[in-house]
Amino acid sequence: MLNITQIREQFPILNQKINDYPLVYLDNAATSQKPLSVIKAWEEYYLYYNANVHRGIHTLSQRATEKMEHAREKVRKFIGAEHLEEIIFTKGTTEGINLIASSGRIFVKEGDNIILSALEHHSNIVPWQLLSKKFQLEIRVLECDATGQLDIEQLEKLVDDRTRFVSFNYISNALGVINPVEKIISIVREKSEAIICIDAAQAAPHMPIDVQKLDCDFLCFSPHKMYAPMGTGILYGKKHLLEAMPPYQGGGEMIATCSFKKTTFAALPFKFEAGTPNVGGNIALGAAIDFINDIGILNIKKHEDSLISYLMEELKKMEVVEIYSPDAPHAGAISFNLKGIGIASDVGMILDKMGIAVRTGHHCAQPVMDMLKVNGTVRASVAVYNTMEEIDALLLGLKKAQKLLA
Ligand code: ALA
Repeated sequence: MLNITQIREQFPILNQKINDYPLVYLDNAATSQKPLSVIKAWEEYYLYYNANVHRGIHTLSQRATEKMEHAREKVRKFIGAEHLEEIIFTKGTTEGINLIASSGRIFVKEGDNIILSALEHHSNIVPWQLLSKKFQLEIRVLECDATGQLDIEQLEKLVDDRTRFVSFNYISNALGVINPVEKIISIVREKSEAIICIDAAQAAPHMPIDVQKLDCDFLCFSPHKMYAPMGTGILYGKKHLLEAMPPYQGGGEMIATCSFKKTTFAALPFKFEAGTPNVGGNIALGAAIDFINDIGILNIKKHEDSLISYLMEELKKMEVVEIYSPDAPHAGAISFNLKGIGIASDVGMILDKMGIAVRTGHHCAQPVMDMLKVNGTVRASVAVYNTMEEIDALLLGLKKAQKLLA
């Protein structure tokens, strides 16, 4: 059993009142709160060794470089990557996917196709549309049923020898549904040589990830959803693919030699890290991984799974609640609406009056909303510091909101 009281002590932000009610923070899928150890790592960098990395021979620069590269190694271990060079610091999942879709242009030619799932966030749709437009590629959509579960049989028909990329999320940000990632990868591998990209933004905070076991080619996530500072992101890519790809952005840091006649590029991972990185953020990301490892990702998963199961069970008992994907496996989040209340943000506003923070709207996944035939949903999402009492507060808040809005 986790000592949630002790864990919560590491998040002073949680200990406050909002509108005279204790804060109940259930918007973790948008961003998690940060523990003291992460804030301290960030602060120490700025207080004691703020300097640019990989550039200076002076002590502060070397210290900052060492700490940031140490954080990169922590990330490598956290996701089970084989090589350190396969870990690229980005500013979030969005940048990671844009990098793949842009530098991955060398893998496509006119008439090829890309497969995405119907459950994608806009950041796993638009970059591929930009690429498709440039090279006249076809985007094929793996549909899902009315309960948010992907139609795996359809995938068999979609993949062919012109499929170059298959990109999909591990867990849907809009619904919290866990997709059958292993099954998808095995079908794609059996039928094609397509490059497989996983958006793990909603999975990395909630479950162990092993990129070698998964055998994905790329995987992106946003550490700010797993206790690290905003503006941090990770792109994992198989070394041979990253080596073959041209740089995403040009600038300092990413060159080996530069003249007006010719520029040669730095080795991995620096080829993809043009400009000054988010040094303090990346170092504090290392502290976030320590925080997770100290608790144990499986312990975090167990605790969060029990919160989500309880919330699902109780929501199912409420006649007035329409749950999306009630029978699919979930992690981290559940999406729903109050029946007859057309505007999810009205519910969100009433919950806020009771100190409860949830996200409402389309969750940057408009195709999912179109499929559900709604404008938006209410999404409650948990982290390791949430409690059953907070789930009860949400349930009570929903009952009150229903009364007020009906
Ligand atoms: N993509 C984030 C979310 O789902 C911001 O809320």
